[in-house]
Amino acid sequence: MKKIDFTLNGKQTILDVEDNETLLHALREKLDIKSVKEGCSIGECGACTVLIDNEPHYSCLTLASKVSGHDVKTVEFLGDENLLHPLQEAFITYGAVQCGYCTPGMLLAAYSLLLKNEHPTDTDIKEAISGNLCRCTGYIQIVEAIRNAAGLCKCNS
Ligand code: FES
Ligand code: FES
Repeated sequence: MKKIDFTLNGKQTILDVEDNETLLHALREKLDIKSVKEGCSIGECGACTVLIDNEPHYSCLTLASKVSGHDVKTVEFLGDENLLHPLQEAFITYGAVQCGYCTPGMLLAAYSLLLKNEHPTDTDIKEAISGNLCRCTGYIQIVEAIRNAAGLCKCNS
C-alpha cells in the first residue's frame, strides 16, 4: 500500500493505493468516478482514457502509484449538466454520442488536442482520437463535432 498525492480535476487528492492497482480501478472504485469506463482493459479501446498532465493516457494500463505529484483530469473537469463545455455541446449538436461509452475518453482526447492546437485539421483530429474506438457513430460525427467546437473553445484560457 502506498499513499499518493495528486491533483484530480483541480483538487488535491490523497489516496491509499495498492502497488499493483490501476488508475482505472482507483478512480472508479475508490473515488467513484464512473465516467472513466472499463472496456478492453488491455490498452486497445480508449474507453478508460484520462488526461495526465493534459496528455491522454489509458488508465487501465497506468499504475495509480505513478500519478503521485501529477495532474489528472477526467471528463468532470470539462463541465456538467449545468454548464457544458463547447466540446460537449458540439457532441450533442452533431450527434456524436450514441451509447456514450466512448464519449468521456473521446472528449478528453479532443480537449487535449485543442489545448495544443486551436485550429486542427480533420487529419489532426483523426490522429488525436486514433486511440479511442467508437462502435456506434462511425466517427464522422465525432470529427465534425470537434472541428466545429474548435473555434468556440477557450481551452487554454
Ligand atoms: S479499457 Fe483501457 S484501453 Fe480499453
Ligand atoms: S457512442 Fe457508443 S461506442 Fe461511441
